[in-house]
Amino acid sequence: MKKGLFITLEGADGSGKTTQLKKIAEYFDEHNINYLITRDPGGTDLGLKLRDILLNYEGDVSDNCELLLYLADRAQHIDTKIFPAIERGVVVVCDRHIDSTVAYQGYGRGLDIEKINLLNNIVTHSKKPDLTLLFDVDTDTASKRVGENKDRLESLSKEFHKKVRMGYLELAKAEPERFRVLDANRSIDEVFEQVKDVLDSLVLS
Ligand code: TMP
Repeated sequence: MKKGLFITLEGADGSGKTTQLKKIAEYFDEHNINYLITRDPGGTDLGLKLRDILLNYEGDVSDNCELLLYLADRAQHIDTKIFPAIERGVVVVCDRHIDSTVAYQGYGRGLDIEKINLLNNIVTHSKKPDLTLLFDVDTDTASKRVGENKDRLESLSKEFHKKVRMGYLELAKAEPERFRVLDANRSIDEVFEQVKDVLDSLVLS
């Protein structure tokens, strides 16, 4: 497997990607791969504070403020944790990254996607993930999985979440070489079979 890979996991709330992340960690352990699992937002100490505001703040948050908080989190995360790890040859697996901002703040909130791409490029120094696994799930199924205890973003309307899903699928269509779209409507084990196929092709190459 190539060293210093950057893999991201994307998908709707309730797509099951965080559960799959645990299985990915087990897979890498079994194959003696040096990996780091992290997440956007909240992959650093500073990012944890931003995550708390982003998910739990109860007052008004303007759309631009929300956008810039996600990007501030990402800037700190990339510069202090993700890039140094990739440079050391570690395989970094990040739960959400640039595509979440395009899907949620762009397609979901309706902010200008060109502007988001520009800001994403500034904070990532234009480095895109080597591979992005998109856990695609039907909006009703995802909502049932999230349940009643919803955070600030999860509480947004079904219409918002449909736009997010559509946005992700458009992104995957535009960059087929980077994205692998997985059917996340299925059981945990069935979804992991799809993940494993992708990982096997990386590990065996
Ligand atoms: P999660 O870590 O539990 O998936 O929660 C993060 C939430 O933040 C989720 O609802 C998606 C949302 N989000 C954005 O709206 N924009 C972003 O750039 C990122 C990284 C996450």
